[in-house]
Amino acid sequence: MTQIGIVREGPEETRVSATPATVQTLRKLGYEVAVESGAGERSSYPDDEYRQAGATIVAAEQAWRSPVVLKVNPPSDAEIAALADGATLIALLSPALKPELIEKLAQRDITALALDAVPRISRAQSMDVLSSMANISGYRAVVEAAHEFGRFFTGQVTAAGKVPPAKVLVAGAGVAGLAAIGAASSLGAIVRATDPRPEVADQVSSIGGTYLAVDVAVEKSTDGYAKATSADYDRRAAEIYTEQAADVDIIITTALIPGRAAPRLITASDVAQMKPGSVIVDMAAAQGGNVEGSVAGERVVTDNGVIILGYTDLASRLAAQASQLYGTNVANLVALLTPGKDGTLTIDFDDVVQRAVTVVRDGEVTWPPPPVQVAAAPAPAALAASAEPVPEPKKMSAGKKIALIVVGIAALFLVNAFAPAPLPQHFTVLMLAVVVGFYVIGKVHHALHTPLMSVTNAISGVIVVGAMLQITDANPIVQALAAVAVLVASINIFGGFAVTRRMLSMFTLGKTTGGDHK
Ligand code: NAI
Repeated sequence: MTQIGIVREGPEETRVSATPATVQTLRKLGYEVAVESGAGERSSYPDDEYRQAGATIVAAEQAWRSPVVLKVNPPSDAEIAALADGATLIALLSPALKPELIEKLAQRDITALALDAVPRISRAQSMDVLSSMANISGYRAVVEAAHEFGRFFTGQVTAAGKVPPAKVLVAGAGVAGLAAIGAASSLGAIVRATDPRPEVADQVSSIGGTYLAVDVAVEKSTDGYAKATSADYDRRAAEIYTEQAADVDIIITTALIPGRAAPRLITASDVAQMKPGSVIVDMAAAQGGNVEGSVAGERVVTDNGVIILGYTDLASRLAAQASQLYGTNVANLVALLTPGKDGTLTIDFDDVVQRAVTVVRDGEVTWPPPPVQVAAAPAPAALAASAEPVPEPKKMSAGKKIALIVVGIAALFLVNAFAPAPLPQHFTVLMLAVVVGFYVIGKVHHALHTPLMSVTNAISGVIVVGAMLQITDANPIVQALAAVAVLVASINIFGGFAVTRRMLSMFTLGKTTGGDHK
């Protein structure tokens, strides 16, 4: 049985790479788990709990000599030396930012998997540790801001007077941004958000925020991440930030374009306009900062009394939760690498996720992996292959439309003039129904078409009425057919209402889950 070692992190880290719960998952995959004594102490998981989960508690050296080592932060030189030959290390390795670390790892005969290189594709979501950590960090950014802010987030009417709600601006509505919007709005603040990807507008509003659109076209993402914004976009966005800075109490910035320094969004003059006591949390401080004047890892107070937090350890500030999600992401990756559930770790380079996370294989650098295309947008290669640009759907000219209407009306009159009664009457009703139906359905949002269709099943009520009138007929065959018609049409009606109800409940905020906005 292969042993997995869970090692203790350095003094600056509170998280741990496995919790007692994920130790059980790893054991079910056929591994023995050896936890370094005290590894989970700072995230409230004592050795005893690991022991109860079936792990053995060992000294540092033994944990590091395991064939598979799980860690949170990148290893130090001494830690790389402590790995056994042929070992596999799974940790956050930032291969794009730390090529020298990857080189050092490749000097040993080991395999290194970077959890932060998991591609953003649906199949890999359960291993996407960056999203798990960003989600926690976005929430914690709001908690930090609320702690510094000397007022309520929610508005109140008290005997001592009216308290207005706090106004929060979240720049960048990715994973961290959406978590921050959700947390701030659930505390009762008025929340606004910006993002160059217009497709996030619905997500922002579904969790209680207002999307501030910058009306300048942006290149569409092909890999789930934003593209660099244009000068036009930045100019218009800068005006919005200046307006907002003068109005809001809290700004949380999360803007990031992978592989680049963080875009500068809030200038010193924007900060100078903010009211004393306002708080800014610059989540991108470690990548150069979205806010002028923020310092990575520091709390800065400006001359006009604005507090700028540049904390880079927001996820670690919720250590138990972060360890639980991190540990689950790691365990999911280990499960992917253990197809036989037999405690044997294998890496399949034909699998896009396994290929992407493997940065060193048996002492050889395998970073960067071939690019992965993930978004709904067509791959650039596919677009290039079709030499012609994709044609816009053709619109009918006004002249053609009028001609068509005239022909339609003439045909209606002809049918009415020559067809035997009662056909003209039925035909007119049908035509009017088509026109009314077209306009009614055209005004309903696409997402609501299915519930609309199922509610229109109620029209089957006409069949029920007709069949009930026939059911007293002397002919038993007619009776039987009428009974079947009543049954089938009733199924249609009640089934339709049941579907409508279920679908509409998906559009209702937090009703069933007590504020859990989905
Ligand atoms: P993400 O890629 O999901 O989101 C980034 C968002 O920024 C995207 O929605 C993107 O469209 C948007 N964006 C890009 N350029 C922009 C611009 N010019 N203006 C406004 N929005 C723009 O990234 P995620 O995972 O949400 O992380 C966000 C940031 O938080 C990153 O900088 C990340 O490193 C940082 N982070 C910080 C932590 C801390 O402890 N301080 C912990 C976790 C993440």
